[in-house]
Amino acid sequence: MISKLTESSLREFIYFAFEECRTKTLALFAGMDASTFCSQPHPDFSPVGWHLGHIAYIESLWVLEHLAGLSCLFPQYRQLFAADGLPKSQRIHLPNLVETLYYLNTVREKVLKYLEVGDIEPQERLWRFLIQHESQHFEIICMILELVKSQESRVNSQQLDVDSLISPVSVGEMIKIPAGEFELGNNSIDALDNERLLHRVYLDTYWIDRYPVTCGQYRIFIEAGGYQNPEWWSLQGWQWRQTEQVTQPLYWQNLRDNHPVCGVSWYEAEAYSRFVGKRLPTEAEWEKAASWDVAANCRRTYPWGEDIPSHQYCNYDAIARLFNKTTPVDAYPSGQSAYGLYDTLGNVWEWTASWFAGYKGFHSYPYKGYSQVYFDQQHRVLKGGSWATRPWVLRSSFRNWYYPQVRQIFAGFRCAKG
Ligand code: AVJ
Ligand code: FE
Repeated sequence: MISKLTESSLREFIYFAFEECRTKTLALFAGMDASTFCSQPHPDFSPVGWHLGHIAYIESLWVLEHLAGLSCLFPQYRQLFAADGLPKSQRIHLPNLVETLYYLNTVREKVLKYLEVGDIEPQERLWRFLIQHESQHFEIICMILELVKSQESRVNSQQLDVDSLISPVSVGEMIKIPAGEFELGNNSIDALDNERLLHRVYLDTYWIDRYPVTCGQYRIFIEAGGYQNPEWWSLQGWQWRQTEQVTQPLYWQNLRDNHPVCGVSWYEAEAYSRFVGKRLPTEAEWEKAASWDVAANCRRTYPWGEDIPSHQYCNYDAIARLFNKTTPVDAYPSGQSAYGLYDTLGNVWEWTASWFAGYKGFHSYPYKGYSQVYFDQQHRVLKGGSWATRPWVLRSSFRNWYYPQVRQIFAGFRCAKG
């Protein structure tokens, strides 16, 4: 009796999460013209239309083929929309929006039919993975749309909100995190393979910025000639700077002093940190400061506790804003961590000093290509999510990873010391 009730409420949870997740994905495509749908504003990223088709492909592969045992629907799309099918440069030849929506809807209809009859409980982890998979592609689609927009220079970056003109009292303030053990990672049912296994880690005392680095702070680096002085850069970072000829963050918001820096590579984050006599935090340092409740001797799912994300706590989920995607770094006092850090979740992703690697006891799930192939000492970990991160992937243990030269993501950073 009880297990039946549990099973039907699990079905309901999955049903509503799938539909809620999809509604917002589709909203990004409302009224989109064909050229935006297929355009590739940067060779490292596929067109938004590809991401849309890929979401359907993954759902079809895992639910319809693997769980329901059906044969591949739309086999003509297999090579195009599989992550390892075609080089990115060949992903511009796509079915149009209407055809792609037909693919999504046809797959989804069969998925929901299976959801009614399948033995869902043992499959819970996979269903939760799929919600998080679409969520991540939602954010990537937002990124590509920003790139398309900036290349058409349709953005008026000088439009300001009143809140942008007030600087927080003490950006640059640091918080002392005393030596001790804490718990790193996450074993819960929605944790992705790379978050497992939860394990205890000891860290010596260190200091970490209370806020992400703001545009006001970063401007000092720019105006001091930081982009022209190799002293602040690592060898690789300086090489990258020379080749790319960058002189400011990609999403630079001049005059928005109290917003976080957004659109920097790991190299820029590293250089700024050296300029101010600090360094980037390791992933463990970031996560302890964001999630450890030392008084209660336990780990929190979110910096503020166990309440699911809401707009009282942080800036996430791409809520409609005419021109302000980021918010001032001190806008969410109720979202503080137990140690008092602001803005750890939402607003901008934060680069850490750590390479992306598996924790002890790592097992790839649902396939090696999700995380394991990126354990290559080439990708740096980012934490915390951005203004475009969906609630299903917003938590302190979530790990993102990119090559250090990537700056098209909504990424900033905070510094550490000691
Ligand atoms: C975790 C954002 C780096 O985009 O490659 C999507 C997420 N993995 N589909 C990526 C992902 C498979 C992943 N990132
Ligand atoms: Fe994917």
